[in-house]
Amino acid sequence: MTFRLLRAGAVASVLLLAACRMEHRPMPTATERPFGKLPDGTEARLFTLDNGRGMRATVTNYGGIVTSLVVPDRAGHGADVVLGYDSLEGYLRATPYFGAIVGRYANRIAKARFALEGKAYTLAANDHANTLHGGVKGFDKLPWAATPFNDSSQAGVRLHLASPDGDEGYPGRLDVTVTYAVTDSNELRITYQAATDKPTVLNLSHHGYFNLAGQASGDILGHELMLAADRFTPVDSTLIPTGELRSVAGTPMDFRTPTAIGARIGQDDEQLRLGKGYDHNWVVNGPAGMLRLAARVREPHSGRVMEVRTTQPGIQFYTGNFLDGTIVGKGGARYQRRSGFCLETQHFPDSPNHPDFPSAVLRPGEEFHSTTVYRFSAQ
Ligand code: GLA
Repeated sequence: MTFRLLRAGAVASVLLLAACRMEHRPMPTATERPFGKLPDGTEARLFTLDNGRGMRATVTNYGGIVTSLVVPDRAGHGADVVLGYDSLEGYLRATPYFGAIVGRYANRIAKARFALEGKAYTLAANDHANTLHGGVKGFDKLPWAATPFNDSSQAGVRLHLASPDGDEGYPGRLDVTVTYAVTDSNELRITYQAATDKPTVLNLSHHGYFNLAGQASGDILGHELMLAADRFTPVDSTLIPTGELRSVAGTPMDFRTPTAIGARIGQDDEQLRLGKGYDHNWVVNGPAGMLRLAARVREPHSGRVMEVRTTQPGIQFYTGNFLDGTIVGKGGARYQRRSGFCLETQHFPDSPNHPDFPSAVLRPGEEFHSTTVYRFSAQ
């Protein structure tokens, strides 16, 4: 039976490839190679997802990290638009979450604690008194099981992780599947699924640092950003939301019409001071659960455009404020402050301590599902 299925699958792939060739349609491909050894001796893998139309991503199963993302400019020339390292060693040594999947709880939980159904939970405080991006050993620092796939419209890799009950202090065994796909419409499509055996909290995100001029091209202050958000969540001095949903109108947080990232970043503004630049969560307009436009970024010289669509309620816009020139990344590039920006789709930071925020609770029998699409074009 299994053999028959395998044979049928192989025949289908050959037919698909033949059909694509006959129509001269490029066939998306997913290939795999070794990517160095983890400290315990197991081998990390690197998957190359190529849509055959000029867009190509490499993804490692270590941390679910997108290590490169090549997209064409308006002349059709490809450049790698994400910051990171050339080899696994860099990611193992020190990384500000370059390109990784962050979880269980992306972003911050105040004082590294929360209560759920009458029980108090204590987490690791790895960001002053708060917990950040899952704790000491979050999902960005774990090996995921990986299965590559491709069909006529996409090449991808499915990553799976079983996070045990009590992992980093979080309750419940969490089964997580994250699927990356590079599609024939120049998208990086990320889908997240999760299920638990006890009530728990969860916030999964992708922490890519983008520079649409190319990862070694200086700062991102000239990129023009649009955020489809009328409100944002102001923070306190430890970057924890105060609970207020504040209108962006009349503030440097208003990106409802495309504005250069650097146009107001130096303004004397309380929130910019607290964030050392932009490091805030915006409330994406429209109903969470529906795939809708959250952000659009354009880099004027290359013409590259990135659109972000998500089903998530929020998006963290971060301007690489903690990069300080000490990191030497791909091709010897030294990453200075503001040499990349992140657009992390997410639940609002510290939701477990804010009953008014969209709930980040997952219960047994429910399935968590979210989708985020980064779509590239050039003009
Ligand atoms: C997120 C946070 C930032 C910072 C980076 C990683 O974007 O909001 O404050 O922690 O991750 O350096």
